[in-house]
Amino acid sequence: MSLIEINDATYTYPTANRPSIKNLSLKIEEGKFYTIVGKNGSGKSTLCNMIRGFIPNFYKGKLKGEIIFDGKNIEEYSTGELALKIGYIFQNPFNQITGIKDTVFEEVAYGLENFGVEKKEIIRRVNDVMELTDITHLRNANPFGLSGGQQQKVALASIIILNPDVLVIDEPTSQLDPHGTEQVFKIIKKLKEEKKTIILAEHKMDLIIEYTDEVIILDDGKLLNSGDVNSLLSNIDLHNHGCLIPQTGILMAALEKNGINIENKSIKFNDMLNSISKVLKKEEN
Ligand SMILES: Nc1ncnc2c1ncn2[C@@H]1O[C@H](COP(=O)(O)OP(=O)(O)OP(=O)(O)O)[C@@H](O)[C@H]1O
Ligand SMILES: [Mg+2]
Repeated sequence: MSLIEINDATYTYPTANRPSIKNLSLKIEEGKFYTIVGKNGSGKSTLCNMIRGFIPNFYKGKLKGEIIFDGKNIEEYSTGELALKIGYIFQNPFNQITGIKDTVFEEVAYGLENFGVEKKEIIRRVNDVMELTDITHLRNANPFGLSGGQQQKVALASIIILNPDVLVIDEPTSQLDPHGTEQVFKIIKKLKEEKKTIILAEHKMDLIIEYTDEVIILDDGKLLNSGDVNSLLSNIDLHNHGCLIPQTGILMAALEKNGINIENKSIKFNDMLNSISKVLKKEEN
């Protein structure tokens, strides 16, 4: 059984006159790392909200089809129950900040306080998660005085600390520089190693290739395709659907077009480097 199953879902927001998700079916397996890609407005955030159970209960509107979480219709869970199982990180980190805490330390601790965790344990976990997300130096700063990128890391920390089984993360790197972006992918990789199920909406193809297991490609609310990163993201036809193709995917397509067949179809940077080296060595002999 899949952890999450979306069966033929069509969803229209209350104020909209057309659906934002159309006849979408999808299975999410436990412990895998998925990335949702697609151009602006293709429905990535809407799908994230569907997966975390906020559609239709919180957003209202009209949902046809069903979303099954861990064997039960997601509408049958209470909000509190779901919040313990599924952590959600907003596309805009500003929305995540509570506004009632004066320091980053207190902000990160907030969720645990709500669950009545013992003070000593809270301090230990906050220190650990601040270390993991590289915000230890910001512990006494005011959350609203941070840069967008710093706020994104604080938002991530304040969810990771709750230790949910599933993390739904909506464009967590939009305000981060390349170094911060790579850091976030490394944090997500660690979470995956802890057997978390991860659903990320993201644009940065070159990093998606290196870290993700599967991609979910959306186009105008429809599922264009889903599956293994290597085969899907080397298809240059994706350009026509508003997606960037990773550099290694473009190279792979160009080589194949020129009759050079790469044995290993992986478009991860190092795999491609090895494959190309092999081809070159064969030619030398
Ligand atoms: N609360 C809402 N009410 C009405 N329509 C909405 C709402 N949120 C999103 N939409 C519409 O649903 C469609 C999908 O939007 P969504 O935000 O899911 O796309 P996205 O892929 O996340 O875009 P982006 O890359 O800009 O974050 C868009 O046409 C958008 O205008
Ligand atoms: Mg979005």
